Amino acid sequence: MLDDKKVPVPGSFAEGAHVTAEEYEERYARSIADPEAFWAEEGKRLDWIEPYTRVKNCNFDLGSVSINWFEDGILNVAANCVDRHLETRGEQTAIIWEPDEPGDAARHITYNELHEQVCRFANVLKSQGVAKGDRVIIYLPMIPEAAYAMLACARIGAVHSVVFAGFSPDALANRINDCGAKAVITADSAPRGGKRTGLKSNTDAALLHCSDKVRCLVVKHTGDQTTWIDGRDVDVLSMMEDVAPDCDPEPMGAEDPLFILYTSGSTGKPKGVVHSSGGYLVYCAMTHELVFDYHAGDVYWCTADVGWVTGHSYILYGPLANGATTLMFEGVPTYPDAGRFWAICEKHDVAQFYTAPTAIRALMGHGREPVERYDLSSLKVLGTVGEPINPEAWNWYNEVVGKGERPIVDTWWQTETGGHLLTPLPGATPLKPGSATRPFFGIEPIVLDPQSGAEIEETECEGVLCIKASWPGQMRTVWGDHERFEKTYFSDYKGYYFSGDGCRRDADGYYWITGRVDDVINVSGHRMGTAEVESALVAHRDVAEAAVVGYPHDIKGQGIYAYVTLMNGVEPTDDLRAELEKWVRTEIGPIAKPDLLQWAPGLPKTRSGKIMRRILRKIAEDDAGSLGDTSTLADPDVVDDLVENRMNRK
Ligand code: WTA
Repeated sequence: MLDDKKVPVPGSFAEGAHVTAEEYEERYARSIADPEAFWAEEGKRLDWIEPYTRVKNCNFDLGSVSINWFEDGILNVAANCVDRHLETRGEQTAIIWEPDEPGDAARHITYNELHEQVCRFANVLKSQGVAKGDRVIIYLPMIPEAAYAMLACARIGAVHSVVFAGFSPDALANRINDCGAKAVITADSAPRGGKRTGLKSNTDAALLHCSDKVRCLVVKHTGDQTTWIDGRDVDVLSMMEDVAPDCDPEPMGAEDPLFILYTSGSTGKPKGVVHSSGGYLVYCAMTHELVFDYHAGDVYWCTADVGWVTGHSYILYGPLANGATTLMFEGVPTYPDAGRFWAICEKHDVAQFYTAPTAIRALMGHGREPVERYDLSSLKVLGTVGEPINPEAWNWYNEVVGKGERPIVDTWWQTETGGHLLTPLPGATPLKPGSATRPFFGIEPIVLDPQSGAEIEETECEGVLCIKASWPGQMRTVWGDHERFEKTYFSDYKGYYFSGDGCRRDADGYYWITGRVDDVINVSGHRMGTAEVESALVAHRDVAEAAVVGYPHDIKGQGIYAYVTLMNGVEPTDDLRAELEKWVRTEIGPIAKPDLLQWAPGLPKTRSGKIMRRILRKIAEDDAGSLGDTSTLADPDVVDDLVENRMNRK
């Protein structure tokens, strides 16, 4: 049984680590017994313009959910990530930028340079009328300007919302409109893996569906030709040269929103997760330091994209708040070949390396050679995030990349949580491959019985994962829809934050995430609401009905399986299948494209018309033998047809 296999902390590692096993127990107990005192102390990690006197003021009761941390404190996030380091480490590299093409020069941006670039960018935003409280959409490749743009917003108190560059014009337009953005920051095009995506042309297409007041700030990154609308489009880089190189940071309340990040849920359109300024930064600075055991001088690399929460908390805000050197990579793991990650680790002496299980699985397929070509002796800690890591991938990561000597931190968290909630601390926690192990300081995980909603007291158990009380990094609301926030996270299990994940707790009190318990699927570590893909499909004129479920996929973790019922008289052809796949790419983006699409003459429904997803999931998983009770179906025959024609034959 996997549970019995504990991998001890490497002996030499515990000595120099920020947190040892004894310290973990002692501090964890303190953080739960007296959260006020614990977080009052941790809040001092930041520089406050006005110190806080109130630490925690939170309520999880349905109807009056409200989350406030350090609420009377005043600070500026950009000043904490940049200005306060100038005196001690102005000439230290803040950001190492590694471009898509390995032959192009990497850039090393010092804290002094970062300060100037952020101030200039902030002044450009101001010149375009962007002010405190305004929303700004950032739709950029993984380039230093993405960091400048985010920090520039934080500096002037504007609320940024980064949209992953892989999203389509429609998805971009929805986000611009939902948050009422005043400006969009984009680039001419985004190089990735030797290919280019036209971001400016996508933005032009999106802006056709938005108010004509929205400004378009363009970073000319590749020099590719784009259309240009005078009076609306602004050349950011050339303007940055003309504005002043300094800009006073705006004093912000701890609870003022720092950013909105859209994420998929089980119903409706993506929701705008709102994060705060003070509590969020305290939490991601602390977790970055302790979970990666970051020490001054280390080069730290998180391979995520800034379009996801991992990029926000663990490329940008956490590391920079700690005065770290953080690496930003424009490209993909397999370009120009499957050794790229390791080439970068060797080239820049990376100490902490943080990636997703899907990337590890993809690289595993290329064997050991691309890893063994490089000297990886600078590595100290390896991390994973985004989905459960299967034991084969864990073992490969541990042996081939870590040479069996580096702790692997499997970090469980969510867009909503702002930072890690369940995670090993590398100097403190014996590991179990596949388990996110134990709670971080201040986090009280609770396992509830999904049916009764009662808390399960036994150590060994399985159920849905909730969190008992607030932590500073928690999301504060859904942008423009506090009711949806309460309903999504606080209504199913009263008095707790409901994560949407299932989990198992073993006899040692270790947590094992078993996956989503709602209609969200996890494709290559990216969240996708099945409802979103379904509504994209039914928006096509030939589609009468669609149902989407996840199924196990060797590389992606989960793949997207779509059942499509066509309008009467429409012939199911391969051309139509290709057209529908393309359609979903345009409606949402390439990550939402169904991996398998089955024509369904009918969908299994209850007599009251509810689609029986449980059955569709079983068919997609090629597990039709255990369909269970189908007697409540309105028309049991449709199931036979679906089983007969399923796509996923083993
Ligand atoms: C899943 C990403 C198992 C989980 C930071 C969660 C994980 C969702 C892990 C959040 C992990 C994330 N082990 N599952 N270490 N990390 N997940 O919002 O289902 O993109 O609810 O945040 O990813 O995805 P999100």
